[in-house]
Amino acid sequence: MEPDFLPINGTDYIEFYVGNAKQASLFYQHCFGFELVAYAGPETGVKDRASYVLQQHKIRFVVTTSLQPDSEISEHLRKHGDGVKVLALWVDDATKSFKETVLRGAEVAFEPKTIKDEYGEVVLSGIKTFGETIHTFVERKKYKGAFMPGFKAVKSSFAPTSIGLKHVDHCVGNVELGHMNKWVKFYEDVMGFKLLITFDDKDISTEYSALMSKVVSNGNGYIKFPINEPAKGKKKSQIEEYLDFYKGAGVQHIAIATDDIFQTVGELKKRGVEFLHVPDSYYTEVIERVGKINEDYKELQKLNILIDRDEEGYLLQIFSKPLQDRPTLFFEIIERNGAKSFGKGNFKALFEAIEHEQELRGNL
Ligand code: FE2
Repeated sequence: MEPDFLPINGTDYIEFYVGNAKQASLFYQHCFGFELVAYAGPETGVKDRASYVLQQHKIRFVVTTSLQPDSEISEHLRKHGDGVKVLALWVDDATKSFKETVLRGAEVAFEPKTIKDEYGEVVLSGIKTFGETIHTFVERKKYKGAFMPGFKAVKSSFAPTSIGLKHVDHCVGNVELGHMNKWVKFYEDVMGFKLLITFDDKDISTEYSALMSKVVSNGNGYIKFPINEPAKGKKKSQIEEYLDFYKGAGVQHIAIATDDIFQTVGELKKRGVEFLHVPDSYYTEVIERVGKINEDYKELQKLNILIDRDEEGYLLQIFSKPLQDRPTLFFEIIERNGAKSFGKGNFKALFEAIEHEQELRGNL
């Protein structure tokens, strides 16, 4: 086997450009149980923006807002609304990662740069992916600070209680009609990822709308990016609705793993996070489809958690409603019990639930 030219240790952070980072930071602390760990802004010598770094186990979110009307961040926000700007990848060598991918055709977001403070140094480089999203390569083996130079360590002003979110399982991109294969090829050719699974519009369609999806994954499987594009149906695909409101391609959902979906989802609901609702009829069918599992179906039904099985095991999952007013980004909470797939058996019920919401918005 050829050596992996782009070894990745995991997701380093996900950065959201938002309208109000101070409030977004509190939302992730209060509702999702993240701890505030670092901050950058005027007080740390960064004049044009404010960024809050939030952490829970291996997950790191950065919420960033602009302090000026004319800036790349403000422009991004005006066009897309709140959304994901950076999917940052943790690597051992950010310069080599940049060179290898640019050599294979990646568009440059920014050249490798070394930033330093009293805790050491971090090397960053960036390449462009779908829409206006970028991949930042982060090399932090010589850094001991809270996040990276330019940020100061801070603490939440109260004690957020963890809800058991462990790591990023996968991040999904929505791209324009006819663009899925181009982006799959980008991940294969430029980043050395492999095509893992293909779903066509027969797998993913309801009476009204359809989509197609391909999942790419890096060498060690730590990074998985499903890429969706709309397919023709009787009515508007949920992917089209996303593209209409995000004004182009972007991150559709982030799936976060938990070891105890009952605790996680129970807490999220208590704290006001809203989820898509599947009808009770789903649960009479699912028992037959999935068979025996360790959990009690009645308990799963109470929290409206979905279940699916593949050759290797089963998984439990649930999808939030959009996290902002535009029907764009949402979260998935997933607990894997051996299954490595993505819940294909739930697509129909899930998409019907999304269509119900689309209809309420007048977008079906
Ligand atoms: Fe997912």
